[in-house]
Amino acid sequence: MKLTGNTIFITGGGSGIGRGLAEALHKLGNKVIIAGRRRSHLNAVIAANPGMEAIELDIADPASIDRVATKLIADHPELNVLINNAGIMQADTVAGKIDDALLTSTITTNLIGPIRMTSALIEHLKSKNNAVVAYTSSVLAFVPMAVTGIYSATKAAIHSYVLSQRFMLRNTSVRVLEIAPPWVRTELMNSQEAEQAMPLDQFIAETMKILGTDADEIVVNAAEQFRGNAGPNEHGLVNGFNEQALALFGGA
Ligand SMILES: NC(=O)c1ccc[n+]([C@@H]2O[C@H](COP(=O)([O-])OP(=O)(O)OC[C@H]3O[C@@H](n4cnc5c(N)ncnc54)[C@H](OP(=O)(O)O)[C@@H]3O)[C@@H](O)[C@H]2O)c1
Repeated sequence: MKLTGNTIFITGGGSGIGRGLAEALHKLGNKVIIAGRRRSHLNAVIAANPGMEAIELDIADPASIDRVATKLIADHPELNVLINNAGIMQADTVAGKIDDALLTSTITTNLIGPIRMTSALIEHLKSKNNAVVAYTSSVLAFVPMAVTGIYSATKAAIHSYVLSQRFMLRNTSVRVLEIAPPWVRTELMNSQEAEQAMPLDQFIAETMKILGTDADEIVVNAAEQFRGNAGPNEHGLVNGFNEQALALFGGA
């Protein structure tokens, strides 16, 4: 995508990957508006990046999405890029009784939220040149991590949705992108200090390079082996990955 001259809305921009992308795009002179639930995090990011703006959003709440979309279109009629990045990840228990609150909140936040957010802005985006809808999925969309089976399923579903939406928007001004990160050092699953995870600044630098090309999928080097999931032969890959994940995270 074109990395300059945009007005960009990023959900989950108050921390981690969203904050990293927001700051990198802000530095390039784009107008950036970030969103999330925690006002303190949003305030810290906009204080550190003069000119950036923030808006409170609960992506799990359809009324909040509608309110934010209306405000965005009114305050920033030039908005042409939406980055659906907000997400949550918790360990679950696919081999046993599922915590219904975890199930519902994960699917509502990671899958229904981005679908609703895009839906609320899509007609506006179609009226813009060089419009982009991007989704942060995960390598776990391609190789599920069994100790976070519900999370992995939401990311696989996002990948599927992206393919449908990209096709259906093929004759419009809107490009649909997927950012599929590997494990990155953020608050997600308390991974800030995880040695095996990719440092956030390195991930953002590599991602920005690829984002600046014509690629539909933003897959950094460390994520490529997962994206290259072995198709019908995936079981060996998936089981081997999950043996390693169990050793790291524990579980049954
Ligand atoms: N880190 C990784 O290893 C990794 C790998 C692959 C994919 N990802 C994906 O990358 C994205 C960003 O995650 P991250 O790693 O940067 O972790 P993070 O720092 O925890 O970021 C998640 C962001 O989502 C926001 N969020 C969560 N629930 C929300 C809600 N209901 N409404 C609005 N915003 C909400 C959070 O803000 P509030 O809590 O303030 O609302 C937070 O800023 C997620 O989609 C995640 O699944 C991460």
